[in-house]
Amino acid sequence: MPRINKSVILALLTVTSSVFLLFQLYYYKQYLSKDGVHNFSSLSANDAQWQVVKKFLDLVGRHNLPVYLIDPVTLGLLTPDTQQLRESDTKGPNCKYFCARREFTTFALLAKLWKYDAVLAKSAAEKGFEFLELCGKDPRLAGMDDLSGTEIPLHFIFRLQSHAVHLVVFYERSGNYLWHGPLRLKPNMDRKFVPFRKLDFGHQAGAYDRPELLLTSIDGLEIRIPKNVSRFLGEVTNSRFLECRYKEARAFYQLYPDDTSQEAMEFRKNAKTLLHLAARTLNSLGMRFWLSSGTCLGWFRQCSVIPHSKDVDLGIWIKDYRSDIIPAFQRAGLPLKHKFGKEEDSLELSFQAQDVKLDIFFFYEEEDHVWNGGTQAKSGKKFKYMFPKFTLCWTELVELKVQVPCETMDYIEANYGKSWNVPVKTWDWKSSPANVQENGVWPVGEWDDVIQVY
Ligand SMILES: *[C@@H]1O[C@H](CO)[C@@H](O)[C@H](O)[C@H]1NC(C)=O
Ligand SMILES: *[C@@H]1O[C@H](CO)[C@@H](O)[C@H](O)[C@H]1NC(C)=O
Repeated sequence: MPRINKSVILALLTVTSSVFLLFQLYYYKQYLSKDGVHNFSSLSANDAQWQVVKKFLDLVGRHNLPVYLIDPVTLGLLTPDTQQLRESDTKGPNCKYFCARREFTTFALLAKLWKYDAVLAKSAAEKGFEFLELCGKDPRLAGMDDLSGTEIPLHFIFRLQSHAVHLVVFYERSGNYLWHGPLRLKPNMDRKFVPFRKLDFGHQAGAYDRPELLLTSIDGLEIRIPKNVSRFLGEVTNSRFLECRYKEARAFYQLYPDDTSQEAMEFRKNAKTLLHLAARTLNSLGMRFWLSSGTCLGWFRQCSVIPHSKDVDLGIWIKDYRSDIIPAFQRAGLPLKHKFGKEEDSLELSFQAQDVKLDIFFFYEEEDHVWNGGTQAKSGKKFKYMFPKFTLCWTELVELKVQVPCETMDYIEANYGKSWNVPVKTWDWKSSPANVQENGVWPVGEWDDVIQVY
């Protein structure tokens, strides 16, 4: 069937809105196409999706919206051979990616490169789209001093007949990562209009690295996609973002005014520098980490670094351990201060920065809990700190995108007990934590290995 006839028939379909006819054409097409590959040149209900994506791209192209494809299903089909695709697939005869019969396709919009223009809604309507804009509070303005936050557009839906394009707006935060907000349908909104439960983005806020983009051609459409698709898809599954609890933090500071002494300010500045340096070093090694102990408590309780904590604490899964971590930190200017335990048991590393110590605790996973170990250098005594199992979420602390346990309250309570919300200045790591247990003594013969102090 010549391609030119397609739009005529589509128009006819639109007019008649005949489900029956769509059905017939669908089976007719299945009959024609070999091995279930959708034939670009033959008309089908699936083709409607391609048409909608094309119209959407025409529309955003006209308005210079910097969009790129983030649809996990479509990108998932591309993963192994993106390069090959770029070279070979110029308007191929088969519609492989945008004819998969889905209710929606997801794109991202970089807010930084886009100037808000209400004309977009008008143009969308002219093109036949039903258009929906969903807003939310701008978290970049929310903080300890201002909890109001102005409303910004977070999600757009462009719907045409049976297909919708979900456009997720990504905002740059602290100059070093991208954030998108949750999608909140208004109470009076037609839930059928937005296939909310099926959407891949928007159930919760997400954080991403700024992706490198690649202009490519997919099913004959010029489209930007993340250059490293598998990396992007890896980010999607771990993207959940938690906002700091600014309201609770403000209440905390009303009860316990912040320490603004020069000493405290100096410590915060050093802790921030150290955290940025540690993040760069661990990221370069591909080692995931999260805020632990006092650093996690500081984020959760007061959206800040606790000045009298005197160190920065990070957690890392032992399965992510890499032996080149020590030379990597040394190269970054942080010499090893002590190494307790070993990879198989209770490993803990401490690095020395100016006035701040960096403690890295390795976490061991068991059937129903996780734990990290402690060692007392002078006695060789071992300790064990137990935590309920948790997953990791992104958040922001000292202008850095970092991870924390998503179940933060459980993590904090395990470590600090129910009264974690009351500051404690004297803290003994061997006896104060709510979750500490004695765990025997290292055999004397192993001390040289498992107790290294520099
Ligand atoms: C697609 O359909 C057209 C017309 O129906 C046909 O000529 C062509 O051979 C088909 N291509 C494939 C790859 O099946
Ligand atoms: C893409 O990302 C993955 C995972 O982060 C990485 O292992 C791989 O080397 C990257 N590929 C390229 C070509 O950069």
